[in-house]
Amino acid sequence: MAQRESWATRTGFILAAVGSAVGLGNVWRFPYQVGEYGGAAFLVFYLLLIAFVGFPVMMVEFAIGRYTDRNPVGAMKQIGSGVWSKIGWVFLVAGFVILSYYSVVAGWILQYTVIGLQGNYAAGGAGAQFAATTGGLTSVLTHAIFMAAVIGIVAFGIQDGIEFSVKLMVPAILALLVGLAVYAGTLSGAGEAYAYYLSPDLGTMAANWTEILPAAAAQAFFTLSLGMGVMITYASYLGEDRNLAKDGVIIVGLDTLIAFTAGLVAFPILFTADLTETTDGPGFIFVSLSEAFSNIPLGGVLGAIFFATVSIAALSSAISIMEVVTSYLIDEYGVDRKVAVGALGTAIFLLGVPVAYDQSASLVWLVVYDGIANQILLILGGLLLAIFVGWFATDLGLEELDKGVRDLGAWGQAWIWILRVPVIVLLLVVLWQNATGVYESFVGIFG
Ligand code: PHE
Ligand code: NA
Repeated sequence: MAQRESWATRTGFILAAVGSAVGLGNVWRFPYQVGEYGGAAFLVFYLLLIAFVGFPVMMVEFAIGRYTDRNPVGAMKQIGSGVWSKIGWVFLVAGFVILSYYSVVAGWILQYTVIGLQGNYAAGGAGAQFAATTGGLTSVLTHAIFMAAVIGIVAFGIQDGIEFSVKLMVPAILALLVGLAVYAGTLSGAGEAYAYYLSPDLGTMAANWTEILPAAAAQAFFTLSLGMGVMITYASYLGEDRNLAKDGVIIVGLDTLIAFTAGLVAFPILFTADLTETTDGPGFIFVSLSEAFSNIPLGGVLGAIFFATVSIAALSSAISIMEVVTSYLIDEYGVDRKVAVGALGTAIFLLGVPVAYDQSASLVWLVVYDGIANQILLILGGLLLAIFVGWFATDLGLEELDKGVRDLGAWGQAWIWILRVPVIVLLLVVLWQNATGVYESFVGIFG
């Protein structure tokens, strides 16, 4: 059997993980969640959860991936017994479903990049423009273009495909977003927007924490690409000598910085256009924000730059999901990489076609796909990993994290105890909340 692939450099691994983390979660979902859950109050909970839930679970995934040097399904088969040996399937199914609609949304974003380049977004008619733009063969085509890019990159493998492309994409995302944030800071609504975004209202926090906390936890998970084996897979291509915790701090830090910067872009633009009430879900960047672009100087160009940035961010995330499912076929069945990625990528493309084609049904499909995969399978995956390493594979976790550190000491114990109780309790609450929410929306759709 051919030797398993690996990252060429430490920077390559970090950039790949950052590229996976930074995506629609940062630039679309994060600002919309901040808007929905009380501005800075959300931000405070989010930052705490990133540090105390997200980071510990990322270390679990890193430890399992590097210890086993295998894809998530194979990894759990190798180290788990009984039901634990099967949980890799949760990740694989989640990845399959998430990528199918992530690519459709990325296709819409490509279409919005073109609209901005052609002139500007529809003033006063952004909702109608969204309905007219998305769906039909055009959206199937942009979905196909995006999946073709994903397949193309992953087909070249870890070093020549993923590592090479993230070295270009991640710096570009950073530079473009910072540039946009600087420009947004010169807009007339910037002062008001910063006050809203940056000064937490203790009253809001105290009154609504039972809602804000689970929402912030789900966001922390999604944004860090946790709970579906991406970080297991990426860490499986790592050498033994590396300090996982140190790399994790950089990855988590950059993802948080980029989400924060996305808020510094979105809120001044919204406040300048007097659109302080952001609409729900997929509407946020396509309706509220594109409406706002149509109201500010240079809105078309600016919008095109913004949507182009989001496309790149989505691509660097999508390749990480593709690699999870691809690595399964390569490791477990010895399938050639190009064959594996071609077959799975085509299947994922087909799964997304109904979402892309039928505009009237696409938002319904999004609720179904997103509900099952993001809100339930990701949290379930993270919860199972926390229980597994927190209670059963403690030594494996501690030994793996200690490599490259060699003096983990009390930090390791703190990590295990955070996993054992607070992380598990919190994720159970979040899972329950999300499951009831998803159930209610399914009843709303099908009932
Ligand atoms: N972290 C990505 C984002 O913020 C989404 C993602 C989730 C990617 C799970 C991979 C796995 O958009
Ligand atoms: Na993210």
